[in-house]
Amino acid sequence: MSKTATLEIDGNRYEFPIIEGTENELGIDIKALRGVTNGVTTIDPGYKNTGSCESAITFLDGEKGILRYRGYSIEELAEKADFLEVAYLLIFGELPTAVQLEKFDKDIKEESHVDEDMKKILDGFPKSAHPMGVLSSLTSALIAFNPGSVDVDSEEEMYNAIVKILAKFPVLAAWTMRKRKSLPLDYGDSSLGYVENLHKMMFARPNKTYEPNKLVYDALDKLLILHADHEQNCSTSTVRIVGSSHAGLFASLSAGISALWGPLHGGANQAVIEMLEAIKADGGDTAKYINKAKDKNDPFRLMGFGHRVYKNFDPRAKIIKKSAEEVLGDLGIEDPVLDIAKGLSSVALEDEYFVQRKLYPNVDFYSGIIYRALGIPTEMFTVMFALGRLPGWIAQWREMRLRKEPIGRPRQIYIGENHRTFKTVSER
Ligand code: SDX
Repeated sequence: MSKTATLEIDGNRYEFPIIEGTENELGIDIKALRGVTNGVTTIDPGYKNTGSCESAITFLDGEKGILRYRGYSIEELAEKADFLEVAYLLIFGELPTAVQLEKFDKDIKEESHVDEDMKKILDGFPKSAHPMGVLSSLTSALIAFNPGSVDVDSEEEMYNAIVKILAKFPVLAAWTMRKRKSLPLDYGDSSLGYVENLHKMMFARPNKTYEPNKLVYDALDKLLILHADHEQNCSTSTVRIVGSSHAGLFASLSAGISALWGPLHGGANQAVIEMLEAIKADGGDTAKYINKAKDKNDPFRLMGFGHRVYKNFDPRAKIIKKSAEEVLGDLGIEDPVLDIAKGLSSVALEDEYFVQRKLYPNVDFYSGIIYRALGIPTEMFTVMFALGRLPGWIAQWREMRLRKEPIGRPRQIYIGENHRTFKTVSER
């Protein structure tokens, strides 16, 4: 028997269907609300209670700390898959066969050149430009050099645009980092795997032999998998709403990169390390910073803590914390900020303020410690997040387009002036 919800307004009762997802989530379908109630809408700042779509890509349960991509647990994928397999899974819905994976990899490698004129655009940025701003701009600029990637309606046209951006994005990310270090722009090596090639493009030096390092590749691969998708977060919702105007994949991704940049979202991984460094410089006084985080009059927040959906441990944070300890151990690195992070976390998890608000470490709390151990500059941390999230954004954009979702256009409740007539300057 299908469920319904009843709404009563001014004595009138309205029934709305309740849809049930495959994990028993319930959503009141209010598509007819405005029409049957003569204009009544809902209001939900930050969309804390509002679903924007039905999606088959990622399932997460914030209360139980569950995260699955296309039904596979994040724990299994982080342990057993590689990033390109997970990208294929998210975008096309199934783990690839060996033949499918080989073709996907080959199609991406075919597209891994970037138009030389793109370097002129990169040259226009000062070295001090934040890499996320550069990357968002370069991603948008790619459209001019790949006009066929905009007006894509067929699955084949979408596939071509998808392999192009999967191929070129890591090049642009590596170029963004190398530009800041005044290094020659590198194309890497198409004989390498996706993550290995990314690492080589980022770290190869013209005057040194590049040393492959499987430990580093494995750590990077796992981090990218853990960041690959997270259902309707801020940047993914941005990608979907920009894509809903048919602006094209690259334009949608450029907007998503800008949304991810914010310190409340993906920018938190950079903010966490800056916070931990500040605590270290301040003598490691974690209690002082916990109190600052709790003080309503202090704008300071414990970066890397709290989450809109997870009201339990972020399952990714658990894996990343363990991986941070392993990577630092394997690389023989002693990083005092890891101890400060662990100290901060254990104090916060015992503190009533955080317990009552169900604030736990999120994906960003420990990730920067690994990026740092891998030699990635702090200002590049959110670019690493974007590299991981790329297949998730693509998958969500493709799902929205294939489902022919309508253009996103929320309503509002107007609280401004009522009608008034114009007054000339002399009358004011
Ligand atoms: C990501 O959505 C996703 O899935 C995102 C993400 C993904 O994979 O895409 O998981 C990636 O963005 C992770 C989050 C990274 N951001 C941070 O670490 C920044 C610090 N965290 C907060 O700013 C905050 O927790 C948010 C933004 C993550 C969530 O904010 P909400 O859901 O809007 O919650 P809120 O701001 O309404 O906070 C509820 C209460 C408030 O206190 P009261 O007004 O009830 O007294 O909790 C407090 C907040 O002041 N609070 C914090 C806090 N986070 C929330 N207090 C101190 N430190 C914090 N970090």
